[in-house]
Amino acid sequence: RFDNIRPKIEKHIREVKDFPKKGINFRDIMPLFTNPQLVNELCVVIADHVRHSVGHVDSVAGLEARGFLIGPLVAIQLGVPFVPIRKKGKLPGAVIEASYVKEYGEDIVEVQEGAIKNGEIVFLIDDLLATGGTLRAATDLVVKAGGKVGEAFVIIELAPLNGRAKLTDVKLTTLISYD
Ligand code: PRP
Ligand code: ADE
Repeated sequence: RFDNIRPKIEKHIREVKDFPKKGINFRDIMPLFTNPQLVNELCVVIADHVRHSVGHVDSVAGLEARGFLIGPLVAIQLGVPFVPIRKKGKLPGAVIEASYVKEYGEDIVEVQEGAIKNGEIVFLIDDLLATGGTLRAATDLVVKAGGKVGEAFVIIELAPLNGRAKLTDVKLTTLISYD
């Protein structure tokens, strides 16, 4: 399903060496958004993939900040709600939280209470999988809220960081994998 679009997306990912710090090879997805037709095509393909390979989902949850670029577009394609998962202290009202370990130290992500209802199936989406801490915490958050992750999807997987190993209990699909 993704074979046709993969090379087109690859051409729109920019590699920035030593950002945000020395030694990091940053994979920048922003050039993709100069091409609205391709963004639309990507969201249509992801939505088709959800319909045919994942099945019914009740919502699409996206991770701040780059998961917010693509998540709502996929949710619109599927005709389901978009659920924002944000870093601590950003969402008003009652929230549920999950903590995770990053390269240095710990961080917390939150979802608003009631955004995911008991038994709901959530399609989780982000731009990139690195160490897997972020998607691990997001998965824990969905489960804490009473939901289930139907699938986690990222555009880019940085394979050597082995984020996959943190997500063995989740169906994980990645569009492009870098060594
Ligand atoms: C990046 C990326 C993922 C996460 C992946 O977000 O967009 O969400 O890192 O890393 P991990 O697999 O090691 O957890 P970042 O935290 O830089 O925030 P941003 O999207 O707000 O820029
Ligand atoms: N998030 C974590 N690692 C990253 C990388 N190498 N490029 C872009 N986003 C990232």
